[in-house]
Amino acid sequence: MTLDPDPSDLLPVVDDYRSNQCFVHPETCRWSCGNQCAHPAPNESQNDYFGAVARRYISRRRLLGFGALAAGMLVAGRNTVFGAETARAQSAGGSSGLNFTPVKLDSSDKVLVPPGYKYEILIRWGDPLFLDPTTGFDIDNQSAEKQARQFGYNNDYLGFIPLAPNRALLIANHEYTNPELMFRGYDDKNPTKEQVDIELQAHGVSVVHIERHATRGWRYTLGAWHNRRITATTPMRFTGPAAGHPWLRTSEDPTGYTVLGTLNNCAAGITPWGTVMTCEENFHQYFANNDKVTDTAKQAVHKRYGLPGGESERKWERFYKRFDLAQEPNEAFRFGWVVEFDPLDPGSLPRKHTALGRFKHEATSTVIAEDGRAVVYSGDDERFEYLYRFVSAGRYNPDDREANMRLMESGTLYAAKFNDDGTGRWLPLVAGQGPLTAANGFPTQAEVCINTRRAADLVGATKMDRPEDVEVHPQTGTVYAVMTNNSQRGTSGKPGVDAANPRPENRHGHIIEIIPDGGDHAAPTFRWQFLMICGDPAKDKGTYFAGFDQSLVSPISSPDNITFDNRGNLWIATDGQPSSFKKNDGVFAVPVSGPERGYNRQFLSGVPGGECASLIFSDNNDTLFVSIQHPGEGTTLENASSRFPDGKEPRPAVIFIRKEDGGIIGS
Ligand code: FEO
Ligand code: CA
Ligand code: CA
Repeated sequence: MTLDPDPSDLLPVVDDYRSNQCFVHPETCRWSCGNQCAHPAPNESQNDYFGAVARRYISRRRLLGFGALAAGMLVAGRNTVFGAETARAQSAGGSSGLNFTPVKLDSSDKVLVPPGYKYEILIRWGDPLFLDPTTGFDIDNQSAEKQARQFGYNNDYLGFIPLAPNRALLIANHEYTNPELMFRGYDDKNPTKEQVDIELQAHGVSVVHIERHATRGWRYTLGAWHNRRITATTPMRFTGPAAGHPWLRTSEDPTGYTVLGTLNNCAAGITPWGTVMTCEENFHQYFANNDKVTDTAKQAVHKRYGLPGGESERKWERFYKRFDLAQEPNEAFRFGWVVEFDPLDPGSLPRKHTALGRFKHEATSTVIAEDGRAVVYSGDDERFEYLYRFVSAGRYNPDDREANMRLMESGTLYAAKFNDDGTGRWLPLVAGQGPLTAANGFPTQAEVCINTRRAADLVGATKMDRPEDVEVHPQTGTVYAVMTNNSQRGTSGKPGVDAANPRPENRHGHIIEIIPDGGDHAAPTFRWQFLMICGDPAKDKGTYFAGFDQSLVSPISSPDNITFDNRGNLWIATDGQPSSFKKNDGVFAVPVSGPERGYNRQFLSGVPGGECASLIFSDNNDTLFVSIQHPGEGTTLENASSRFPDGKEPRPAVIFIRKEDGGIIGS
């Protein structure tokens, strides 16, 4: 029998992957994701899942007798058509420069790094940032006033902004709080106002000045001029099409232009003009009583974003009416945005940019397109949600930072459609175009910005397996998009597999490479392929490591945050291995070009209950900073599963890793 060549046959598709294991720890569900898994995935739209296409080529693959490995090898072979940059990188050949003895999956309460490396603590939850003797950390004498001047809880994203040789700013998001690990005897049925006030100040962002000492490594600078805390009560303002919209107006802000604070800041990105764009992710968990919202249109939008009908887990609505949708139905529309602030100016006002859309933003990655427009990639981290791109209207001017800081105020937002043949298209989300009509609830662009998920439903974007971090390769321009996992893919009543999300009950996640057509990040179309389909090759079917010999790679699950070293190797932090592997999360390094492409190796193992939430290199790559988030999650302060970092109460902390000989990390 002869079949026409079908490019979709080149994509690895796995159709026999099944597991019934628990997926993430209940406390992670509760506080980090706000029990996303407890409510039905809010995306009930009926746009194309490519189910029929997927089924067709799965059967074709069965017909042809392809196994997953064979498919993977074909994908690896196909790299040659993926743009001159990748080809050049491969033809350069040689080694990735990575040469360390991998650590193994581990479950002990110890951070493990390869032989020849050491780690130290840089800063922990509660460490004071300002010269003020009253703000020293005492877990039994904490206060909101102290917390506002201390490093916040659950450090997630890390950014490194060099100021001078041996001096830099470290940016750290404080995504959420674990009150059961912050307060002795925490009663989740009856949190106190004092506890809630502390938690409000423990959220947000820290800007911390750090210095490198010749022998002692990095230390943070207490009282440095740049040090700053942004919290859940810091004043901010809105920009863009939805600023001032009636749905953004509340009794505290009748203008709809100002808002207090930022919440659930997961990851972020640093723009080419040196600002930070921090992202509001699982904001739904802070709001209560959607069932009591009387405006059915607003209620439907809140439902699409997963806001609870009754009381919230955190119960902040008992103390602050802005978190009670029955009293303030619009406050939740003021979260779910990208927030830009200037880390060089501690007094500057952060701005929530509505033009970039409202969803559970994981992170931003900003590059300048060939014509000078700024392009921002951002994922919506929930099951069956979308990958987005924003293209600014204005152009970047390297000589005008003030003007660049307005680039995020207007432009075009897109959602990604991944075709089964390895091509893709950015679908514009523009009021008045296609299905985004007034009759469908989009009379102006403001409604597109506020109800972005629904707009993306209507244009037929591809439902993804929880889009987490997206980063652009600094040398090749290839875009790396991380799908962390999706246990519901292909289960009863849920979307089936498709070409870009090929694994049913996807517990381990995958990483997609997106190559903009013509190398232009503003182009309407792209090509895509897999870098990795994660898991333990010795146990899990359908794993794929860019065609590399899978007997040599380190098992990896639930990739989340990523970065690149100066050689162009991809470094990955994971969030989910305690559930999927029953082992601690970790940090991994994988070359993306050359003969070692796909050779994944574990560099670090974290601690029980703790996610390795983020990682960033110093500018010269002799230091790797890693965010150890929520150590001990799943237990309580009285009976914590981790005593990281000091052998006492578990405290989220930023660590830094150096080679004992002072060399380049990974070499
Ligand atoms: Fe907060 Fe998507 O991880
Ligand atoms: Ca994350
Ligand atoms: Ca995560």
